[in-house]
Amino acid sequence: MTELHIGGVAASQLVAQYGSPLYVYDQQQLETNLQAYKQAFQSDRFPTKILYASKAFQTVGMMNLVNQYGFGVDVVSAGELYTALQSDVPVDHIYFHGNNKSTEELKMAFESGMQHIVCDNLMELTELSQLANDYKQPMQIMFRLNVGIEAHTHEYIVTTHIDSKFGMAYDSSDFKACLELLNDNDYLELEGFHVHIGSQIFEMDAWYAAIDKMVSYLNDFDQPLTLNLGGGFGVRYTEDDKPLGIEETMNQLLRYLDQSLTAADLTVKELIIEPGRSLVAEAGYTLYEIGYQKQTPNKTYYFVDGGMADNIRPSLYQAKYSCDVANKMDAEKTEHVTVAGKYCESGDVLIQDVALPKVEKGDLLVVYATGAYGYSMSSNYNRSLTPAVVFAKDGQTTEIVKRQTYLDLLRNDLK
Ligand code: LLP
Repeated sequence: MTELHIGGVAASQLVAQYGSPLYVYDQQQLETNLQAYKQAFQSDRFPTKILYASKAFQTVGMMNLVNQYGFGVDVVSAGELYTALQSDVPVDHIYFHGNNKSTEELKMAFESGMQHIVCDNLMELTELSQLANDYKQPMQIMFRLNVGIEAHTHEYIVTTHIDSKFGMAYDSSDFKACLELLNDNDYLELEGFHVHIGSQIFEMDAWYAAIDKMVSYLNDFDQPLTLNLGGGFGVRYTEDDKPLGIEETMNQLLRYLDQSLTAADLTVKELIIEPGRSLVAEAGYTLYEIGYQKQTPNKTYYFVDGGMADNIRPSLYQAKYSCDVANKMDAEKTEHVTVAGKYCESGDVLIQDVALPKVEKGDLLVVYATGAYGYSMSSNYNRSLTPAVVFAKDGQTTEIVKRQTYLDLLRNDLK
């Protein structure tokens, strides 16, 4: 039987060494994606910068890898900031997002020497202004703007409709007040504007519409400002998803922006993007051991030893994935089954209606493209242990996160 290899390592060997379930990244694929972004996202008109959106998959090892390619990172919490600070990423390459940063988080930003904050709202800027005066420390401020564009994707992950909790409308009184407040502060500097129109987007038209809006705003300012277009570039989870690919997406984005800027006779100080999913999703695999099988009147279930605790996306977003039996890659797919997890919820189903070979207890199931928002949204539901994370490349493995132990589960229990 043909067996799946990831980064040159057999699935069975990976599970034997690191346990199951297991998150595995094909490190070469990660590096190919990083390189593709780096190469394609360049302009001879203005400097460009790529920030990896940590929320998609963050560990110290991942931070160090993106840093090797010269990427900065965006963080959205003290925890993500702390992780980035523990890595090789220089502090001035870290950008702080979030709609409700706590005072503690903002203080952490000043005390760690951060230089970039993406401000979401007027109350935040008021607090930032106070803190900058207290610390007597400069801070570059990007404003997150809500351009009122709803990108085509699942409703829960649309962020930029008019009543979104994120950002401010350019023509709002809050945003005008922000600009005045910033002007009056000796330490805060206007870096530019940020927009993020959603996630898992395939339609370039959505970006173009956002670019048009942003360019029209930039036109109101005398000095060139930085433009940050966020993340959201779509990936292939199943054969129904048809992303353009990193290179083509970047080429089209840059071409459109170039035209818009030329038409407006403008330039930008710097152009930033924040891809998360498109850097890591397709490089990630989850390996599970298949346990029991069960026949109900209308379904055949294959049960695996993980599920919603290691991948909440199918239950939360009805996200679709594809899979194979990793130790029977060339077996005929004679069965039509539902792959369900082991957790105590009926909704804990990983994949509905998929053709797979006949299996035995102990066979391995691979779910593809789980590298984004899998580990980072994992939980200990039912007191399950968070799996290890392994990078595989050229037949070698590097353990990036070790599997939790039962002791980890009890670590904070006091009685
Ligand atoms: N920048 C900002 C400001 C964001 O809010 C996000 C994602 C990104 C960048 C990265 O977007 P990406 O390139 O990864 O699409 N948990 C959901 C996705 C939530 C995305 C939130 N923001 C999921 O599993 O689909």
